[in-house]
Amino acid sequence: MAWSRTLVTSALPYANGYIHLGHLAGAYLPADMYVRFLRLNGESVLYICGSDEHGVPILIAAEKEGKTPQEIADKYHFANLEAFQRFGMSFDYYGRTTDPVHHRTAQEFFLMLYQKGYLEEREVEQFYDPEAQMFLPDRYVEGICPVCGYERARGDQCDRCGAYYDQLELKQPVSLVSGKPPIVKKTRHWYFKLSQFQQALEEYVEAHSDDWKENVLQQVRSWLKQGLADRPVTRDLPWGVPVPLENAQGKVLYVWFEAVLGYISATKRWASDKAQQPEVWQQWWQSPDTRYIAFIGKDNIVFHTLLFPAMLMAAENYILPDNVPANEFLNLEGEKFSKSRNWSIDLRDYLQDFPEDEHVDMLRYALAANLPETRDSDFRWKDFQSRVNNELIAAFGNFVHRTLQFLKKNFQSRLPEFPEWQELQTVWNGIWEQRSKEMLQTTGEMLTDPEKELLQTLLDLDQSIDSAYRHFRFREATAATLDVAKAANKFFNDSAPWVSIKKDSAQAARTLYVCVHLCAALSTLFEPLTPYSCQKLRQLLNLSEPLPWQSAFRLFLQPGHSCQPPQLLFHKIEDSRIEAQIAKLGEGSSEAKSEEVSHSEEETENLVSYEEFSRLQLRIATIVKAEPIPKSKKLLRLEIDLGTERRQIVAGIAQQYAPEELIGKQIVVVANLQPAKIMGVESQAMLLAAHSDDGKLALLVPDASMPPGSPVR
Ligand code: 2FM
Ligand code: ZN
Repeated sequence: MAWSRTLVTSALPYANGYIHLGHLAGAYLPADMYVRFLRLNGESVLYICGSDEHGVPILIAAEKEGKTPQEIADKYHFANLEAFQRFGMSFDYYGRTTDPVHHRTAQEFFLMLYQKGYLEEREVEQFYDPEAQMFLPDRYVEGICPVCGYERARGDQCDRCGAYYDQLELKQPVSLVSGKPPIVKKTRHWYFKLSQFQQALEEYVEAHSDDWKENVLQQVRSWLKQGLADRPVTRDLPWGVPVPLENAQGKVLYVWFEAVLGYISATKRWASDKAQQPEVWQQWWQSPDTRYIAFIGKDNIVFHTLLFPAMLMAAENYILPDNVPANEFLNLEGEKFSKSRNWSIDLRDYLQDFPEDEHVDMLRYALAANLPETRDSDFRWKDFQSRVNNELIAAFGNFVHRTLQFLKKNFQSRLPEFPEWQELQTVWNGIWEQRSKEMLQTTGEMLTDPEKELLQTLLDLDQSIDSAYRHFRFREATAATLDVAKAANKFFNDSAPWVSIKKDSAQAARTLYVCVHLCAALSTLFEPLTPYSCQKLRQLLNLSEPLPWQSAFRLFLQPGHSCQPPQLLFHKIEDSRIEAQIAKLGEGSSEAKSEEVSHSEEETENLVSYEEFSRLQLRIATIVKAEPIPKSKKLLRLEIDLGTERRQIVAGIAQQYAPEELIGKQIVVVANLQPAKIMGVESQAMLLAAHSDDGKLALLVPDASMPPGSPVR
């Protein structure tokens, strides 16, 4: 290994919403597993993250809630920090971009690039909303994507094809402030000469063609192929890091320009506050023997593979990301996470219903087994339950329990003595030191058949787990870790100590001696997945520290070592709990949830243009059938006649209307809403109803009978 230390970062989450399971699976859990694995291997690691507290979404959230942007940032920063800690994210430092150290770092970096000639002031034309009298930052303008034709592309990036462009390239732009087409007006901005780095970036990316993930390479190559344009890195905005130049009143640094520098400023904070050596941050960012791994979600690829590396190249003495293992997205029960439809699970929501340490571990495990590594994956509650009950508990929990149970019943919870224990240690540990399967053949009668088979399997798994972690294949690492627990169970079964104890207690003692060591090994191997339970397991084994990864499988305890009586590491997840969670999804979603917005849907301006409004197809429908949805108090399944077709919809009106009184009624529906599954039933349109604050609800009905399908305008 050519490096001396590994710097790991996870994307700094926007402080305008709560972290949900999708975020956790994207950029945080895999990074935490990785750093835990490296630390257990005795490698020097620094894990940095923090809150991204500038940018337009926070400004919009503040306007909407009548708060200051700082109040919004504070609220989500502390909430997310707490949730991350509870979920065991083992950051060395969790910073924030409103920190003065960050402002200074970002301004100094900007000035350095300015002095080196990489920033150029240009008079530019930009969209301006004459009615609101403001330049429109990227998220305040929408239009048709110049690359793929997507109709609701944002000012700087297309959510559909990921293209990254200048806002003037948008076709048919609309201001999200006034709902009208903006005009083009002159302003001044500083441009980063990204185009100068085209070749260096191509070389950088191709030098990693063997080790970067296919999804990352594909995206980055396609951008490089389009050719890199210079990018403005300042904005006309009242919230952000002020541009440190005299003629730049009212201008701030572009949020992406400074957010990526948040990794560096948080490292500086760590160095001065935690390591008490302010200058040591340089070792992590400027030393060629440091390897840097940046964990992100797929929507951040361009910034971490092109913009940030180019900035670091321009600054000259910095290292570049060695790998950018970007994950795809996690869906929830087959659909995208959406706050406004209440189709989401925040970490806080989860903790409310699953508050124990073991529950944190269960979620970590279930997500790790199903990470969206190569394609989008899906979180399903039933799958969660089965992973927990049939994998985590059936293999890991069960093995630990039966071992400690047997030890208590037959050996007073002490590691039993047997005649050849020292010889077994020597042979066994010799095999592990050499990681040698050949040595298994030369041990003659010393090892029993189940022991040989166990060692064979463990040697293979040990290698696969190591390789999986080092190649960022965390699902594979998880599956192979579970296989270790399965192999341990098989060994227990094949050795059948409950039989041998009756005729040859030394044989049973030997089996248990190995099994207790396997428990100790599992407490190391599962540590990246289920850290709380591993700590509890070590308490049961009277061990203080996890064993180093390299010696996890060694036999090292003396006979006589005492353990604690067994306690369950995990308790089964019952059906009723899972059903309650499924029932919660989508409930109450017709009441617009205004408080928080997730970062993919933060554009929630109050005004809509006529053009936007006219995209909704509102139609008269006649209800032809109505029935309750099992296990839901609020939902009904309706069949409606739309004139040319029949559809079913799920409506949250069961508390106000009995199914029979609805038959024959005419209602107004949104006919072109994307279908959504609610409690397993597909809803193919949405009915409109009025809602009062005290929970009353009234359907909108035409005041004369209308042919079904009639448009409402
Ligand atoms: O996508 C996001 O949530 C961004 N706030 C990530 C920023 S990562 C880096 F730039 F700090
Ligand atoms: Zn596009």
